[in-house]
Amino acid sequence: MERYDVVIIGAGPSGSGKSTTFHQISLLDNPTSGKIKISGKDIIKLDDNEKSDFRLKKIGYIFQHYELLPELTAIENIYLPLMVERGNLNEIKEQAEKILNEMGLIKRKDHYLSELSGGEQQRISIARALVKEPELILADEPTANLDSVAGKK
Ligand SMILES: Nc1ncnc2c1ncn2[C@@H]1O[C@H](COP(=O)(O)OP(=O)(O)OP(=O)(O)O)[C@@H](O)[C@H]1O
Ligand SMILES: [Mg+2]
Repeated sequence: MERYDVVIIGAGPSGSGKSTTFHQISLLDNPTSGKIKISGKDIIKLDDNEKSDFRLKKIGYIFQHYELLPELTAIENIYLPLMVERGNLNEIKEQAEKILNEMGLIKRKDHYLSELSGGEQQRISIARALVKEPELILADEPTANLDSVAGKK
């Protein structure tokens, strides 16, 4: 987390609206009223292309329920989002391997999700968000399935 200048933690009881808020900030869901401003810009007013661009380039989203793709391997889940934006496949595979290594998951890189534990899947979903080096990371209970040492790391 030392890479980031600001960390905002949303806390509240189950069902209070944490995930809903995150979905709205990341434009996965629209609020019925109000505004969401990021860097002074009302992001709800962006058109569809600008919204996709904003999500792709600015945001790394760590979903509460991971939202990984079961038909892809661990490493494919991490580098696939980068393929849309960056051309060089060898380079993005290298980046994905580097982050898998940092996450202690390099041995699992070619495994499918059904062969991974819940905590391993959670770390894959964290790696997928971090590998983009986005300006903003939205992390919805990102350590819920990790032991205390892995969570702290
Ligand atoms: N798509 C939806 N349509 C209607 N209501 C929803 C929808 N998604 C969530 N809700 C409701 O909105 C409320 C907030 O849900 P949300 O998932 O944001 O809570 P949360 O704070 O993230 O909870 P948790 O800690 O259990 O993850 C809940 O009462 C939930 O039932
Ligand atoms: Mg939630």
